[in-house]
Amino acid sequence: MQRFFIDANIARAHTLDTAFYREPQYFSAAKEKLFAPLWQYIGDADMLQGNAHPFTLLDGYMNEPLLLTKDEAGILRCMSNVCTHRGNLLVTEPCKLHNIRCKYHGKQFGLDGGFMSMPEFKEVEDFPSEADNLHNLLLFNWGKLLFTSLQATIPAQAVFADMMQRMHWFPMDKLRTVKERSREFTVKANWALYCENYLEGFHIPFVHAGLNQVLDFGEYTTELFRYSNLQLGIGKKGDVCFDLPASSPDYGKEVAAYYFWVFPNMMFNFYPWGLSLNIVLPQSPDECKVQFITYVLDDSKLDTGAGSDLDTVEMEDEEIVEQVQRGVLSRFYKHGRYSVTREQGTHHFHSLIAEFMNT
Ligand code: FES
Ligand SMILES: [Fe+2]
Repeated sequence: MQRFFIDANIARAHTLDTAFYREPQYFSAAKEKLFAPLWQYIGDADMLQGNAHPFTLLDGYMNEPLLLTKDEAGILRCMSNVCTHRGNLLVTEPCKLHNIRCKYHGKQFGLDGGFMSMPEFKEVEDFPSEADNLHNLLLFNWGKLLFTSLQATIPAQAVFADMMQRMHWFPMDKLRTVKERSREFTVKANWALYCENYLEGFHIPFVHAGLNQVLDFGEYTTELFRYSNLQLGIGKKGDVCFDLPASSPDYGKEVAAYYFWVFPNMMFNFYPWGLSLNIVLPQSPDECKVQFITYVLDDSKLDTGAGSDLDTVEMEDEEIVEQVQRGVLSRFYKHGRYSVTREQGTHHFHSLIAEFMNT
């Protein structure tokens, strides 16, 4: 495996080697190197209608069967959804359970994942052991939003604190999911190409004519944190902007949108009407899915300002990213250079990819 190198000095740096997008070996290696140590959005507290909600983490890529449960005390837990006997999937649809009972041979677990009983196992030695419990994963919540991590090598605080602090005034608990406004797109491009396009506003005047009318491109700034970054969208005069409290470091600015990206694949777009969460799901080296999950705060502001007409912006982005996918397969293109003023976010992303891939 080659080592990826991104010079820390953006003025000297070359962009990520195309091998990362092209080669199946790096697509696979990224599972353990980039995705397992970090955090993933899994849904929100409202999705638990009963007390057991099965789901697949990074469907089409990591494919890890997990289960979210809520016990009598209201405590949420995230655990493996695989029976510790012969590997059957335990819960196959959202439901309300007293305890978790495997439908294959009857092994039972508590809602905390602890082993309870197993038929016909009296003679088995050293049983039960720790390995008979369902593996519990860490769960992190921000308001209603829930996140987990397969390995949690990097603490959730290190990943989310910068965004949480900056948005401390935003009423996360009041967000409502609006299913009709949520959707999923298939993009014929490597997942990282989709992310790096998101990470620069450089292309806005070229690719998004409509959005360019609303955002003041000259004022568009990028701030880098350890595992996340922020693009601040400043509205043009008269556009719908946030009513910021004095405690916000942006108080006095006409902020139309906060575009936070969290490594490796999550985008949190805050608009005066609410939050549009985008999750990029790798599918193959040349295909990804993008989930748009819509959380509304204020219906009256929907379809206004920078957060209106997101579908048009999305189609424009997909088209350009799919073209880049074809470009990175070229034998004549290995990597390019960065604009020092306009591509700090993309440079940050590539640097993190190199850092994690080289471990
Ligand atoms: S696989 Fe679950 S009890 Fe056998
Ligand atoms: Fe774009």
